[in-house]
Amino acid sequence: MDRTPPLAVALDFPDQGPALALARRLLGKVAWVKVGLELFIAAPGVIAALRDMGHEVFADLKLHDIPNTVAGAVTSAGRAGASLLTVHASGGPAMLRAAVEAAEAVGPDDRAGVTGAFGVRRRPRLLGVTVLTSLDQSGLAEVGVAGRLVDQVLRLAALAAAAGLEGVVASAEEAARLRAVHAPPFLLVTPGVRPTWDAGSQDQARVRTPRQAILAGADLVVVGRPITAAKDPVEAAERIGGELLDALGELERSG
Ligand code: C5P
Repeated sequence: MDRTPPLAVALDFPDQGPALALARRLLGKVAWVKVGLELFIAAPGVIAALRDMGHEVFADLKLHDIPNTVAGAVTSAGRAGASLLTVHASGGPAMLRAAVEAAEAVGPDDRAGVTGAFGVRRRPRLLGVTVLTSLDQSGLAEVGVAGRLVDQVLRLAALAAAAGLEGVVASAEEAARLRAVHAPPFLLVTPGVRPTWDAGSQDQARVRTPRQAILAGADLVVVGRPITAAKDPVEAAERIGGELLDALGELERSG
C-alpha cells in the first residue's frame, strides 16, 4: 500500500531542534506534522521551516480573540505556510467568519515559493476546536456549560460549519455523531487517540484507538506522545499509520 496514512504527528517539543529532526525522518510517512503552542511560541519560524522541508503543516494555534485580531493571525499563519489552522469555535460566529474571510484572502502570491508537499498552492484550511479532548463532562460543567458534552460538541460544530470552516477538531468519541450531521468533505480531525500497545492516556480524558477513530468517520488522526515519547518514534508512527490504513481498508470493504 503506497497511501500516506491520515496521521498528523503532534511535534510538541520545547524547541525547534528535535522537532525538525523528527520531521525530517517522517517525510513521506505521515500526511501532516502539527505545530502546537509549545513549539510555536519557542520558535515561530518552525512553520516555514517545516513547509520548506516539504511537509504539509498543521498549525494548531487554537486562535481565540476578537475578530480583527484572529483575522490578522490567520493571515500571518497562512503567509508562513500553514495549510491547516485551528481556531476555537467557541469564539463565536463573528470571529469565525472573520477567520474564514482572512483565510480566503491568503493568495498564492502571499506565500512566495510555497507549493507544499503535494505541489498544490492553496490557502490555509480552517478547523474549529470544539471541546478539548482533555475535558470531560464534569470539567465542562465547571466552566459553566450545562448539558451534555456531546451536545456542546455538536453545537460548536454547527457554528463552525455555518461560518464556512472546513471542519472541526473533536474526540473520536463524538466523531460518529458528528459524521451523521456533517457529511464529507467536512473534515473531522481527532486527537485523544491511543494505540492499544501504548502504556497510558496521559492527560487525555476521551481516548480511542486509531482504528476506532477511523471507523467512527475521522479524516485525520492526531497523535503526539505515543510517537514523540516512543523509544523509536518513526517505528511508532509507521505502526500507527499502518493501523489507520488497515482501518480505512476495512471501511472501504464494508462499503
Ligand atoms: O500527546 P497527545 O497525543 O495527547 O497529543 C494530542 C495533541 O492534540 C496535542 O498537541 C494537543 O494540543 C492536541 N489537541 C487535543 N485536543 C483538542 C485539540 C488538539 O488534544 N481538542
